[in-house]
Amino acid sequence: MKIKTFAPGKIILFGEHVVVYKKPAIAVAISRGVNVELDSRCDNNICVNIDLINYSSQLELVDKKLNYQCDEDNKQITDYVYEAINMFEFENGFNLNIDINMYLGVGLGSSATITVATIKALALYTDTNLTKEDIAEYAHNIEIKIQGAASPIDTAMSTYGGLIYIDNESKLNRIDCNMQLPLLVSNCEISANTGLLVESVRKKYEKYPEIIENIFSTAEELVNEAKDTFIENDSNKLANLININQGLLDALGVNTLELSDMIYKVRGYGATGSKLTGSGGGGCIYAYCPDNIDEFYNKISEDYLTFKCEQSDSGVYGEIITQDK
Ligand code: PMV
Repeated sequence: MKIKTFAPGKIILFGEHVVVYKKPAIAVAISRGVNVELDSRCDNNICVNIDLINYSSQLELVDKKLNYQCDEDNKQITDYVYEAINMFEFENGFNLNIDINMYLGVGLGSSATITVATIKALALYTDTNLTKEDIAEYAHNIEIKIQGAASPIDTAMSTYGGLIYIDNESKLNRIDCNMQLPLLVSNCEISANTGLLVESVRKKYEKYPEIIENIFSTAEELVNEAKDTFIENDSNKLANLININQGLLDALGVNTLELSDMIYKVRGYGATGSKLTGSGGGGCIYAYCPDNIDEFYNKISEDYLTFKCEQSDSGVYGEIITQDK
């Protein structure tokens, strides 16, 4: 049997950091993510291969289970795969090839994406009927188990896809619009600690409560305007809102010289809107490029690791390519 699945990564388009204070945010699932290919084996071996991190291993099923224990002191990206495998019982082993087509550990939801794509492949292999709600829940539980805490946003984005408005009660609402979102994502290759950056904003809030409260309220207004802008399909306004949100994040102190360099370079090439995405302090920026994306991509990718993407509406999907006879 051969199975193929795909789950999308995500980027936060608007409202990072203020979302911690129950203000709204907007995220989008992207057409870059993780492809999983599963090939059944006749023996009891489970072979996992992840080219991007040069990882390959072979473990054995005992009484249909893997019984993998992750090392509490040394958590690995592979733990997400093994925790997903731990959920199921198998009659036979399999080869699992995990092809990561996104950047790891820079706020694009890579661990959630790997988990969701793997669960989908294993559900098809074991003929287990899982709804998207089940997949999102199991993947979120795996993230909590490995990370200690995790917001459900990344696993939900990978599972359901789409353009999502996270409201003041942290509920995820799909924005239905016909707007295309051609995006460039550039990686400054400096990893940042989300917890420390969230803490730095909190300290600023405590020090200058009125000023920061005003920034939060402005961000809230901006995110709500952005939601309407998607529905109105107004690409000029969207670009302006992206740039204003970048200014607010700079004011909160989470921008860096490297991120600014990328943001202004891509704007200099002609991209109309660009901002950091996620925690800041490193990681990625995105540029919204309704026109000439190839031209901007060719230029910015000479200086920075960059990929092109657009929104992914479908979320996780998979199919059985060939059945066992
Ligand atoms: O970079 P990410 O995807 O971990 O996003 C962090 C987003 C913050 O708003 C800064 C924190 C959070 O938990 O929402």
